[in-house]
Amino acid sequence: TSLHDFLRRLPKCEHHIHLEGALTPSLLFQLAKKNRISLPKDDKAFISPHSLLARYARFSSLDDFLGYYYIGMSVLVHEADFEALAWDYFQHASTDGVHHAEVFFDPQAHTSRGIAYTTVLSGFRNACLRAERELHITTELITCFLRHLPVPDCLTAFENQDVQASYLAGHIKGIGLDSSELNFPPHLFKEIYERAGQQGLRRTAHAGEEGPTSYIADALDILGVDRIDHGIRLVEDPALMQKIAARGTLLTTCPMSNVVLRCIKSIGDHPIRKFLDAGVKFSINSDDPAYFGGYILDNYCAVHEVFDLSVEEWTTICRNGIEGSWCSEERKREML
Ligand code: HPA
Ligand code: ZN
Repeated sequence: TSLHDFLRRLPKCEHHIHLEGALTPSLLFQLAKKNRISLPKDDKAFISPHSLLARYARFSSLDDFLGYYYIGMSVLVHEADFEALAWDYFQHASTDGVHHAEVFFDPQAHTSRGIAYTTVLSGFRNACLRAERELHITTELITCFLRHLPVPDCLTAFENQDVQASYLAGHIKGIGLDSSELNFPPHLFKEIYERAGQQGLRRTAHAGEEGPTSYIADALDILGVDRIDHGIRLVEDPALMQKIAARGTLLTTCPMSNVVLRCIKSIGDHPIRKFLDAGVKFSINSDDPAYFGGYILDNYCAVHEVFDLSVEEWTTICRNGIEGSWCSEERKREML
């Protein structure tokens, strides 16, 4: 339809996509076979790509999803595996009309299994460079820290020689904070964020997905982030919402993810209209497209179906996404 076409042609920026979350059941089984990685035998979901996909439709929470997410990525071993994964994502992004993608990955989820950071980074970087060359998508990489792990582990990961070299080389644009949110408040990661800021890295953090609004406030005030990932619970604190609107902080929302992980009952319960009314800036993203039933354009379409946004509102959303990106000012002007 022409509407789908209109949404596809909008100059979209994606700010909230975990590359490991782009691992489709099909690629997962293919890599498990190639790398001789055994999948859990006591869970019937792992019988086939089809049964796995069916299980993904029944996630009960963020942690229920994360269990599958960490098992899934265990099939990623070689540089070429990481490259194939990211390339698969960039092809979808291109089809969906993404102009610029800032993508997360979880170094600790790989180094903890004995996969070198350089293997992961090289694979992902190869795909980024190919996407820029062949698909004309500009890209940035963001290293996330796993908040369910002990803080000293996260500090060690931050200080890792290869990780530091990639920051120094400008191969990584910023840092993020992900994994289980409840009971892992932002303030625990103050030192990493402070040092990352001193090193000139941009900073974001997942907050207010399952966690309370105080996590959003603390990510802003203690971690010094300039974006908030998810942030849907912001509507529970009107004063904080006003503060975020005034500051112009971008929320990277993921409507389909929120429904699948049962943070909200349906897309209609997403606070998109409240954010628009309050002048809170946000982008619309896929989070873990292979797990949550859709890529970025599916999220745009789902939002449009329910909220029936005007052309003007869509234009504003995309402009805010461009302006809230971590690319050069020159690149922003090209996209506007
Ligand atoms: N939330 C927290 N951690 C994650 C997510 C998410 O939605 N996806 C991948 N890691
Ligand atoms: Zn996320």
